[in-house]
Amino acid sequence: MCGIFGYIGNRDAVPIVLEGLKSLEYRGYDSAGVAVVKNGEVGLRRCSGKLSNLKGLLASQPLEGNYGLGHTRWATHGRPTEENAHPHRDCKSRIVVVHNGIIENYLTLKRGLTSEGHQFTTETDTEVIAHLIEKYFDGNLESAVIEALKELRGLFAFSAISADDPQKIVTGRDGPPSVVGRVEGEGFVASDVPALLPHTRDVLFLDDGEIAVIEPGRIRLMDFSGKERELHFNRITWDPVQAEKGGFKHFMLKEIYEQPTAVSETLVGRLSLDSNEVRLDDVGFSVEEWRSFKNVCLIGCGTSWHSGLAGKYMIESLARIPVQVDYGSEFRYRNPVPQPDTLCVVITQSGETADALAAQRKARDMGMKILTITNVVGSMTTRLADGVLHTRAGPEIGVASTKAFATQLTALYMLALQLGRVHGSMTLEQLGAALSELTTLPHKLEKVLELDARIETVAKSLFRSNDFLFLGRGVHFPIALEGALKLKEISYIHAEGYPAGEMKHGPNALIDGNLPVVFVVTQDKDLPESQQRYEKVLNNIREVKSRDGIILSVGIEGDEEVAEASDHYLPVPASSDLLLPILEVVPLQLLAYRIAILRGCDVDQPRNLAKSVTVE
Ligand code: G6P
Repeated sequence: MCGIFGYIGNRDAVPIVLEGLKSLEYRGYDSAGVAVVKNGEVGLRRCSGKLSNLKGLLASQPLEGNYGLGHTRWATHGRPTEENAHPHRDCKSRIVVVHNGIIENYLTLKRGLTSEGHQFTTETDTEVIAHLIEKYFDGNLESAVIEALKELRGLFAFSAISADDPQKIVTGRDGPPSVVGRVEGEGFVASDVPALLPHTRDVLFLDDGEIAVIEPGRIRLMDFSGKERELHFNRITWDPVQAEKGGFKHFMLKEIYEQPTAVSETLVGRLSLDSNEVRLDDVGFSVEEWRSFKNVCLIGCGTSWHSGLAGKYMIESLARIPVQVDYGSEFRYRNPVPQPDTLCVVITQSGETADALAAQRKARDMGMKILTITNVVGSMTTRLADGVLHTRAGPEIGVASTKAFATQLTALYMLALQLGRVHGSMTLEQLGAALSELTTLPHKLEKVLELDARIETVAKSLFRSNDFLFLGRGVHFPIALEGALKLKEISYIHAEGYPAGEMKHGPNALIDGNLPVVFVVTQDKDLPESQQRYEKVLNNIREVKSRDGIILSVGIEGDEEVAEASDHYLPVPASSDLLLPILEVVPLQLLAYRIAILRGCDVDQPRNLAKSVTVE
């Protein structure tokens, strides 16, 4: 949460910093600010609210300078007022700091610094960093930062500049992400990759415990004790244009429409139709290692947890090995019983979610092998993992995850096939059929997107409802959960996902003529248990109908029975049971999007949320 952007070079820093902040605004949008240095003086502008307010302020009170820092805030300590907006300064306004994360011991530090004569002007934890640096500053910024770091506790990423050690940005990380970019005569730092893409694709992800000193065209890396480290750059293959809206009104809509391509990219080079194999060579595990896994533990947060839950159904069905699923925030604070030969799969789009990373470290300490499924090359999760399976969704900017989810499900399905093959639980014929079906997914996704106009009509009749229920069974239950999450995230409508069979144990009491109930009621005609589940869900539909509930169903194309039983029917192409979730979720994403638009909500920047949750 919170976005940091810094620039140093020979160009005018303010427009570059503002452009960088624009692509980081998804991380927080309570307030924003920028500080630059010119002729040895710090200039600073801050205001509450979105970046557009800051732009307005800069139009009437311009700033100039060729190095500086900007920040877009998601408030943790201190209200989202102008005074609490970053950047923060020391007593003499010579040192400037922007920060993402939490300084846990800030109150103790603040008391100590105040008694030493430092004057604080904000309620934030960040301000202590500026005063601590001031305390230790004797002309060299990185040396003062190293001293300050010895006293800071918590999880943080920050950047600092000083008018008295000019032409230098010092940035450090112990928790939230910090990415550095370098081009001839210039240097950049940002909280995430998309902000750097207009300038460079060669980026350096700071490790926890690292400091980068950025000067025009020169970067030095060191640990928190000041010991120099080797630079470790990654090449990002994302196209800068991918991080723009490309004619769509919102990033979320663009990303929903990108799903055929995102899934197709995630499959490229990984399906060997000749040998009936999934090729997960890039993960880096040997066949012996793959065979050694007798249990799987899936960990994720938010939408990534939903894909983990669907992954459980996939792996248990195809590989016949036991799977447990955990929220990162739960796993890290419970006392799990270690199981030998467990593969822990951490699922995280950003690769930087604090709870997922903490759970990953815990699983590693428990002796589990770690595979991470992530969308961001070089992110922290990749450096804590034994193997990496990259989804190739491209940059996801909308706060509500869409294309990342579809690619995570695709990756988990391939993982299930791989485990099924090495454990001998799938025949070559079954593998071959699964692989060729995977190749049809992008086309089927395109067909599902054609439902958008119909969904808009449905949205018009339902957008005034105050509550929604989403129901499904089997692998379709996680999709019901995801449908409910999408709706509540961006439209602020109360929505609950439930296993359809559990309705009679409580939620039935909620049904009346005002309650829309969304059923995921697809079926795989070749699979007897899918048939049985389908029959049961049809019964659930009738139960809701007899109590006057409003029925919206996502079913299989041509299913007259479901169409007749429902008030609204959204058909997806027929598929095998475990691949249907990738198709079913799309109408639910579009439904949430269309309803949120009708309610006038800010889809890409929903209130109180942020895309990258780098604090607990
Ligand atoms: C936030 C985002 C969600 C995302 C979750 C986990 O809550 O708003 O869209 O699913 O974090 O993020 P991750 O990057 O770990 O998948």
